[in-house]
Amino acid sequence: MNVQPSKKMSRFAPAIFGDLKQFALQQQSNGTSLIDLSLGSPDIPPADFLREEMSRLSKLESSYGYTLTGVQTFNKAVSDYYARVNNVQIDPNTEVLQTMGSQEGLVHLPTAFCDPGDIVLTTNPAYVAYDAGIALAGAESYYMPLTKENGYLPDLHAVPEDILQKAKLLILNLPGNPVPAMPSISYFEEVVAFAKKYNIIVLHDAAYSEFYFTGNAPISFLAASGAKEVGLEINSLSKTFSLAGTRVAYIVGNAEMIAIVKQLKSNLDFGIFEPIQLVAAMALDNAEKITTKLRATFAERHKVLMNGLQSLGWEVAPSDGGMFVWAKYPYELDAVRFTYQVIEQTGVIMVPGTVFGSAGEGYVRLALVQEVSLLEKAVQQLAKIQITQTI
Ligand SMILES: Cc1ncc(COP(=O)(O)O)c(C=O)c1O
Repeated sequence: MNVQPSKKMSRFAPAIFGDLKQFALQQQSNGTSLIDLSLGSPDIPPADFLREEMSRLSKLESSYGYTLTGVQTFNKAVSDYYARVNNVQIDPNTEVLQTMGSQEGLVHLPTAFCDPGDIVLTTNPAYVAYDAGIALAGAESYYMPLTKENGYLPDLHAVPEDILQKAKLLILNLPGNPVPAMPSISYFEEVVAFAKKYNIIVLHDAAYSEFYFTGNAPISFLAASGAKEVGLEINSLSKTFSLAGTRVAYIVGNAEMIAIVKQLKSNLDFGIFEPIQLVAAMALDNAEKITTKLRATFAERHKVLMNGLQSLGWEVAPSDGGMFVWAKYPYELDAVRFTYQVIEQTGVIMVPGTVFGSAGEGYVRLALVQEVSLLEKAVQQLAKIQITQTI
């Protein structure tokens, strides 16, 4: 049989993570000890009380039916959490939609609003799921550069007028992956005015909303005046509550937009396992017990890695939040080859910046997913790098 992928498949590049890991495992079998700072998968286990509840609920015979668009307890917990943490009122009946991890929501959402040929404004660099969703919708990406000069915030006013006329959706991510810039209320207000002017739907990815290192929490997009008229926020339990494997997240915001995405999703899946939804609700209800500790841990990790890399002459993007360090290394080598050489010489696994877009050339992303002692070890290892042109 002559098996051919669809033309659209050319827009779905294979992920580099598997190749990096395989190369690293090969080095390990040659005796190198590995320090994996590649994936942003939380290393801290979920709270005991969440795991106990998951275990109890999983034993109930009644837990195994389809849940369709989700249980009301979850929507209510999201609404309460937004009121408590962000001072934003969310109607649990019309303004919340559960998704199977935010990846699923991000990849499907553009299909709900964009036709082939429409433009989606995103950033370079950006989290990879945005382009996947844009490709699935048959839409086109317009990349707004994230530069040191603009504080790693996309400059909306630099987007050409002809692009704006065709733009349907704007995707933002603050604090971001891979560049952990923080949002401000004035920036989000500017986004609302811009969205109204050009009739562009805004999707703010707030996956790292609980990761901040000073007293100043990253604000919710929905806290900006008028934000609910123009858009949505997607947030996830993966990182904040260490529930990445359970695949639970949610979209909140404009009810009309939520209804459209809900209609699409009702054709795609029949809901998340009920115990996961109820445990997620429990996590949201008890968020503060979990996030205070989380923040202290990540603030310390961030300080150690940032100071360590700076002491080696690396340029670290300044940030008060997020789960990553975005760093420019002081060597003349492309990011992919640099990353492989670093694994070979030191066992430290990072992600080449170019995975997130062409503007990532010369940069690497390091995830704060190891204990402080291992981050210190990683810095000591990185001090030994001797760069050559080939691997
Ligand atoms: C910015 C951002 N958004 C969304 C996701 C997807 O997370 P999940 O699907 O686990 O909610 C990630 C995962 O790394 C991410 O970095």
